[in-house]
Amino acid sequence: MPVLRLRFRLVSDTIGLMTATILSGKAMAKEIEAELAEQVADFVQNNGVAPCLAAVLVGEDPASAVYVKNKRLACERMGLESRLHKLPVEATEEELLGLVAQLNADDGVHGILVQLPLPRQIRSAKILDAVHPLKDVDCFHPENVGLLTQGRPRFLPCTPHGCLQILHRHKIDVAGKHAVVVGRSEIVGKPIATLLAAKDSHLGPKVCNATVTIAHSRTSDLPAITRQADILIAAIGQPKFITAAMVKPGAVVIDVGINRLPEGLCGDVDYETVKENASAITPGPGGVGPLTIVMLLHNTLQAARGLEN
Ligand code: GUN
Repeated sequence: MPVLRLRFRLVSDTIGLMTATILSGKAMAKEIEAELAEQVADFVQNNGVAPCLAAVLVGEDPASAVYVKNKRLACERMGLESRLHKLPVEATEEELLGLVAQLNADDGVHGILVQLPLPRQIRSAKILDAVHPLKDVDCFHPENVGLLTQGRPRFLPCTPHGCLQILHRHKIDVAGKHAVVVGRSEIVGKPIATLLAAKDSHLGPKVCNATVTIAHSRTSDLPAITRQADILIAAIGQPKFITAAMVKPGAVVIDVGINRLPEGLCGDVDYETVKENASAITPGPGGVGPLTIVMLLHNTLQAARGLEN
C-alpha cells in the first residue's frame, strides 16, 4: 500500500472511518469456475461421460425455480450434464421418495439435489435422508453431516465452503480469532461453525482453528456478543439485521443472507453502515451467493470421481 494511503488509513482508523475491503464473490466465482471447467474437461476425457447433476424441483416457488435454473446454466458453462425433474406442488412424499430412489439407482446420475423448501405435506428430513450419501452433493445426509462433524468430510456443504473460499482467497487468517456465527440453520449456521472451529481444512490451517460462538434468536444481548467478533458471519435470514453498532471496528463481516424486499434483494447486514466499521465485508448480494453454485458443481465432480474407484 503506498505510504500516503497507509497514512490516511491509519488516521481514518483512529477517527473511526474505515475503508473496508469489499469481498466480492463474483470475480472469485469466475476464477473458480475456470479451474473447475478444466477439471471437468479432464474427467470427460478420461471417462467418456460428463459428471451429472440431477435437480428435483417440487412446486412452483419462483425463487426455487430461479435457483434451479441458475444451477442448470452453471452446469452448461462448466461442462457438466444436468437433469431437471419437476413434480407438481401437490406431489406426495411417496412420489418424491420414488423419484429419489430412481435417481439413487441410476448410474448416470452422480449428484442429486432436492431443492428446498418442499411443500408442507412433505417432510424434508424424510426426503433428504433418502438421498444416497455418495450422491448427496448438498451435504445434508446425516452420514455426511456426521463425517463433517468428525473432521473427515466427504463433501463440504456449498454455502459454508463458499465462505471459506472467500476467506482463503482474500488471505484472511481465522486461526485463533473469535468467529461469531449468527444463525444456527442446518444449511449454513451449524456447518460453517463446525468448519471454522475444525483442526484442519483442505484449504490449510489458516481457514480453521477459530474460536467459535454460535448466536441465534434466543441469545441474550446479541450486540454484546457480535461486538466481540473478529470474524462475523451473518446467516439469520432477516434483512439488514446486523447494524454498525453490532460490529467491532476492524471486524471481517461475511453476509450469507439473501432477502427479498420490495426495493430489491438485500443481505442480513446493513451493508451501507457496516462497511464504514468493518475492515472487510462481502456485498449482499454478490458476496457468498455466486460461490455457492460453483461449490455444488465441485461436489458433483467429486461424486463422479468417487465412482472411478
Ligand atoms: N434452498 C436454499 N438453499 C438451498 C441449498 O443450498 N440446497 C438446496 N437443496 N435447497 C436450497
